Amino acid sequence: MASQNMVATVVAAAVSLLVGGIIGHLGTGTDTISSSDKEKISIMEKLVADKWESEEHLNHKIIDMINTDNLRNNLMELAKLPHLAGTERDHQLAHMIRDRFLEAGFDTADLVPYDVLLSRPNRTNPNLVTLEDVEGQIIFSSTYQEKPLHEDDSDPEFIHAFNAFTPAGDVRTEAGRGVVYVNYARVEDFDKLEELNVNVSGCIVIARYGKIFRGNKVLQAQERGAQGIILFSDPRDVALEGVEAQNVYPNTWWLPGSGMQRGTTYMGTGDSLTPGWPSTAQAYRLKVEDVQLPKIPCQPIGYDDARVILKKIGGTPAPSDDWKGGLTGVAYNLGPELQDRYSNYTLRLKTHNVLQIHRSYNVIGTIKGEVEPDRYVLLGNHRDAWGYGASDPSSGTAQMLETARVFGQLISSTGWRPRRTLVFCSWGAEEYGLIGSTEWVEENVNKLQERAVMYLNTDNCASGPAILIPSSPLLWEPVTRIMKMVPGVRDGATLYDEWMANNVAQNRTSPKMDTLGTSSDHAPFAFYCGIPCLNLMFKSIRNKYDITGYPFYHTGYDTFYMMDKHVDPGFRIQQGCGRIASLMLKYFADSLIIPYSLQHLPEAMKDALDTFKESGKRDKLMKICKKYVLLEESLANLTDTITVFVRKVKEKKTQNLDPVSIRAINDQMMKLEQVFILPAGLPGRPTVRHAVFAQSQFDNYAPARFPGISDLLYRIEELDAAERLEKEDEIRKHISDLTIMMERAASFLQDFHLI
Ligand SMILES: *[C@@H]1O[C@H](CO)[C@@H](O)[C@H](O)[C@H]1NC(C)=O
Ligand SMILES: *[C@@H]1O[C@H](CO)[C@@H](O)[C@H](O)[C@H]1NC(C)=O
Ligand SMILES: *[C@@H]1O[C@H](CO)[C@@H](O)[C@H](O)[C@H]1NC(C)=O
Ligand SMILES: *[C@@H]1O[C@H](CO)[C@@H](O)[C@H](O)[C@H]1NC(C)=O
Ligand SMILES: *[C@@H]1O[C@H](CO)[C@@H](O)[C@H](O)[C@H]1NC(C)=O
Ligand SMILES: [Zn+2]
Repeated sequence: MASQNMVATVVAAAVSLLVGGIIGHLGTGTDTISSSDKEKISIMEKLVADKWESEEHLNHKIIDMINTDNLRNNLMELAKLPHLAGTERDHQLAHMIRDRFLEAGFDTADLVPYDVLLSRPNRTNPNLVTLEDVEGQIIFSSTYQEKPLHEDDSDPEFIHAFNAFTPAGDVRTEAGRGVVYVNYARVEDFDKLEELNVNVSGCIVIARYGKIFRGNKVLQAQERGAQGIILFSDPRDVALEGVEAQNVYPNTWWLPGSGMQRGTTYMGTGDSLTPGWPSTAQAYRLKVEDVQLPKIPCQPIGYDDARVILKKIGGTPAPSDDWKGGLTGVAYNLGPELQDRYSNYTLRLKTHNVLQIHRSYNVIGTIKGEVEPDRYVLLGNHRDAWGYGASDPSSGTAQMLETARVFGQLISSTGWRPRRTLVFCSWGAEEYGLIGSTEWVEENVNKLQERAVMYLNTDNCASGPAILIPSSPLLWEPVTRIMKMVPGVRDGATLYDEWMANNVAQNRTSPKMDTLGTSSDHAPFAFYCGIPCLNLMFKSIRNKYDITGYPFYHTGYDTFYMMDKHVDPGFRIQQGCGRIASLMLKYFADSLIIPYSLQHLPEAMKDALDTFKESGKRDKLMKICKKYVLLEESLANLTDTITVFVRKVKEKKTQNLDPVSIRAINDQMMKLEQVFILPAGLPGRPTVRHAVFAQSQFDNYAPARFPGISDLLYRIEELDAAERLEKEDEIRKHISDLTIMMERAASFLQDFHLI
């Protein structure tokens, strides 16, 4: 196994011979350098050149070239019409993006089709929430379309309100009872209800959006025995300055009363019919009945409609202010009884969603690398939207098209070409559970694990001005460096200054980078493959508005007008997004030694183990498994190994390195995170394979560290003795697996002959 070092030595020898030979030639003064030698020198120079370091002027050029007018025009075109996954318009845009990649001068740009299970409401038979009296007269019926409030948000093709993958169903309550308000429908909310003796079994529950992934809400409601769930956006989360017309869209960015959040409820990722495998034409597909989809009907409504229902709920009063939203005249009673005067009313939820296989395209464009074409630096963004999708995802697409143009122009005007291959990806059907990216990763998993240097995701680049870049710790330092190069999008000199200011405003003394949650197309790259990823976005300023997400998320008001007028007037945010993205791509494509910050990996893991100490988890674990100390020890060992490795790489950077050694060092770093991929996945989750960083099982959006440990410990006290013993055994195995992974990682970074 010393072969790589031997090859390195041989190449180094060959290089010195070659150069020596040439110098020899020169030394005699009689010969000129032969053209074949010249060629060899030029090849050699390319192999060892650090184009990032030597071509700094190009970085300034890139910063100047990302153009706000282009971004605006791109967004106007992309968000002109609704472009739901698998629709005609979605397909048109796929072609448009392919053509734009080709116009920019890409080496390839192709549509990659998959046939995948999607879910839609019935256009002629809309989903309804109704209140009916004892005779079956309809007293109230919910709306299923946003009220058109501006000229560009009234397209008849706009998809009616629904939640994807919830079944068609028709459920109703008894007269006068059977409706429970469940706050955010989190586990702790249902626990509280149980404590208060409010039984949701057989009821239709109504929950506000926010805090956790909607799929977890539906699943919890189902597990607690509810027969249906209604979701609404509460003004406290989406209309913080009042619900009057002057305080909401189109006059502000806040959500009006008819805004309804659509979204998927499927708990997995990718096409549910082909878990772990690509949905190609010949692929084996599960039967729809065998897929774990929600079993109870669900429907989103706006807060104007929610008010009508909530006002009628009596029964147990809200236990605390935490349960009260911002609807005036509503007490936020829990139910299950309606108030006396509505004792003849029944609440009915009737949905007509349809499951069907549709074609969805990814668009994959490449700029071939000059020196290492088999190393990929990837940029991805989804294309499909619930509606106009101006922010989500078209602000990211507008950016990607501009970034593509800039790289194309760099090639044609300066002759530049990246050292490594750039791959641009426009994903389909992300909104249905990261389908396009997941299927593509499943199809290309070997190539990607072997060749991908990093994946940069931009979904909705702009939903506010504050930059947020959760990422693999391997990218923390490089992205910080790039943030320092890019001018601010508000009043800060650089994006780094603005990021710091935002950290300070949030009382974070030492600014911390965040690790990744699932929430977008980086998930299959990060959590299935172990590829270092980064999810670039600009969001609202947290200390200004205490809200999760942004008010018009997944509604009919995510329009070009919203972006142009309220969110990103002047398009400076999307420009900042394009600048960061293009410089990160160039940094990773052109640096001789890939600029990973390895030292942050054990640091982030140590942080996680420290929080286990603080939260009492460590004590629990020690009672179950004494060998937990070995996990801590192996992490300490890995930390030492990485410190030594990083120092060596720094030293080597200043020396003249031969191409094989460069490649070998880069590969060690590039594949380090893959050591933490569990072949069989996390306990009970075969497609979530990252043992250190992955989303938590109980909130699909939230990032977690060592998620297997938290998942296995979850509610362990409530298990009966036999189940508990079984779980404890699983914990001992998982801790052992983690310890071995730490040791493998340290071993992976050792000198090659130490096997
Ligand atoms: C939609 O509803 C109509 C009217 O009930 C029905 O005829 C039609 O078959 C439904 N479409 C689908 C795709 O189920
Ligand atoms: C809740 O209601 C269901 C159905 O009415 C019943 O089977 C169950 O025992 C009740 N749970 C509690 C804790 O009362
Ligand atoms: C409910 O219906 C019954 C029978 O139709 C009627 O006698 C009663 O007055 C109604 N109650 C209310 C509160 O409307
Ligand atoms: C930061 O700390 C100050 C003073 O303790 C407090 O008033 C403020 O609410 C905190 N801000 C945030 C965003 O937590
Ligand atoms: C940590 O490193 C020491 C010294 O090499 C070694 O003896 C020990 O077994 C390692 N611990 C673990 C848990 O790998
Ligand atoms: Zn999105």
